[in-house]
Amino acid sequence: MAKVLITGASAGLGAELAKAFAARGDTLVLAARRLARLEAMKPELLALGAPEVVCYPVDLAEPAEVSQLAEALPGLALDVLINNAALGHWDALWDTPLETLNHMIAINMQALAHLTTAFSAYGKDRPTRLMNVASGAGYALFEGAIPYTATKFFVTALTEGLSLELKRQQKPMRAQLLAPGPIATEFLENSLLNSRMVWSDDALKGVKFHTASEAAALAMTLFDSDATVGLVEPDLSFSLHHEIHRAGQL
Ligand SMILES: NC(=O)c1ccc[n+]([C@@H]2O[C@H](COP(=O)([O-])OP(=O)(O)OC[C@H]3O[C@@H](n4cnc5c(N)ncnc54)[C@H](OP(=O)(O)O)[C@@H]3O)[C@@H](O)[C@H]2O)c1
Repeated sequence: MAKVLITGASAGLGAELAKAFAARGDTLVLAARRLARLEAMKPELLALGAPEVVCYPVDLAEPAEVSQLAEALPGLALDVLINNAALGHWDALWDTPLETLNHMIAINMQALAHLTTAFSAYGKDRPTRLMNVASGAGYALFEGAIPYTATKFFVTALTEGLSLELKRQQKPMRAQLLAPGPIATEFLENSLLNSRMVWSDDALKGVKFHTASEAAALAMTLFDSDATVGLVEPDLSFSLHHEIHRAGQL
């Protein structure tokens, strides 16, 4: 059975992914800031079939804490790393406070890049698996959320690029990228905190949402496939791809 570390496991998609891996009998390492929430999830995960659940409190906006986690990865002897934690912020770029922008870059990009780099250094010659969670907003520009969108473009490029290098060098490690569509979680509400954007009641009327458990099921479909990317479109259709970004030549 595998040992799986999931960031952002205290809520939303991360919490549902923890249940999905627990049901497969995998050992879990759950990372997030809210330790009490992670601890509260333990009994259900053990009952679902996880032999062991370790809770790892970490603030991914703090580079020193990210370094500590990155350095701990080899000792944890992981088979799977899921970089799921992220936050959004909805505003025009010029209305986005610098502090918010930097916070989002720290979590969505810097922490993810650091953990991805450390995990690939440890795992590239082993049959390990990385799944980074981006968004449909990692392949298309979403007006009103351009800074978030730009952080997710970084994630899609980094992950597809890593997958390409691993395949070309015939390494046993695999890298995958989940690009969900809208999911009904705390994420949207948090993305609107301190936003100057004025939302009419109708703004979300046409938007279709997956539940977190539906999104986790799609993540597991990607995990079980040999594809690199699992992409959800705004109409909630799901497709698997070997690549979306095209490879260039130096
Ligand atoms: N919801 C959507 O509509 C949607 C759409 C497309 C893609 N996505 C992507 O899907 C992923 C999961 O989203 P979600 O909707 O499940 O989000 P969510 O419900 O808001 O959960 C976010 C998770 O990230 C953790 N997190 C946030 N800041 C952190 C920090 N500084 N340090 C450590 N952990 C932190 C949170 O835990 P703590 O607060 O306990 O730290 C929480 O567990 C994200 O990558 C998101 O960009 C979401």
